[in-house]
Amino acid sequence: MNAIVSDNPTMVSREVADLVIGAIRKDPDLVLIPATGNTPMGAYARLAKQMRRDAADVAHVRVFQLDEYLDLPPGDSRLLSGWMQRSLIDPLGIPPANVTGFRSDAPDVTAMCREYDAALEAAGGAGLTILGLGPNGHIGFNEPPSGADLPTREIALTPESIRSNAGYWGGEARVPLRAVTCGMAQLLASRQIVLVVTGEGKREILARTVAGPVTPDVPASFLQTSPNVTIVADRAAWGDLPLP
Ligand code: PGA
Repeated sequence: MNAIVSDNPTMVSREVADLVIGAIRKDPDLVLIPATGNTPMGAYARLAKQMRRDAADVAHVRVFQLDEYLDLPPGDSRLLSGWMQRSLIDPLGIPPANVTGFRSDAPDVTAMCREYDAALEAAGGAGLTILGLGPNGHIGFNEPPSGADLPTREIALTPESIRSNAGYWGGEARVPLRAVTCGMAQLLASRQIVLVVTGEGKREILARTVAGPVTPDVPASFLQTSPNVTIVADRAAWGDLPLP
């Protein structure tokens, strides 16, 4: 586990954008799994700007969606696929054919998850995964308890995630109760993982992630077991933790 601790969220965004640009330069066929959520949005905006300026070629970058709510109809404004499209896919100009997503209204969720894992494996696994940190220690929608070997699957949102997601959509009643998430096994196998964490509100869960016991009760704590993890945090989130 490595850590980059920056003064503020703007600097965190810069660091994350640089890491992504470096990864695409090194591997133009990069398989990217990008989180939605508020934390990485500044990084994505910066990334798009810089890639346009450099006229970087993203024609071969492949994107696998990290997670999605279930039970929403196509076109619903809460779809995480839409959020990913608006914040990353469109601004970067990644071809639609390169994106593997989840269907919120899938008739057979288990089959969709098996197909996702097979497609990710056929693509060689994730090259770079960008994660946010849930207030309950989830990564993607791997809600506690989630062990390290769990595959891509359906989950029920915990009350804590419903509370935190309410902020995106204007109230808890607007947050779907079920989701699909890229599995712990697929995420932990990523050749590079960037965990982006900002704000004092994340300080306690970040401390448990980095320095607490490795436990399914804090799914993000399994990141301690991977040498391929870089945490990019601001000082407000990092607090007094020692640098690893
Ligand atoms: P946030 O969400 O980036 O909006 O804080 C993180 C998460 O819940 O995974």
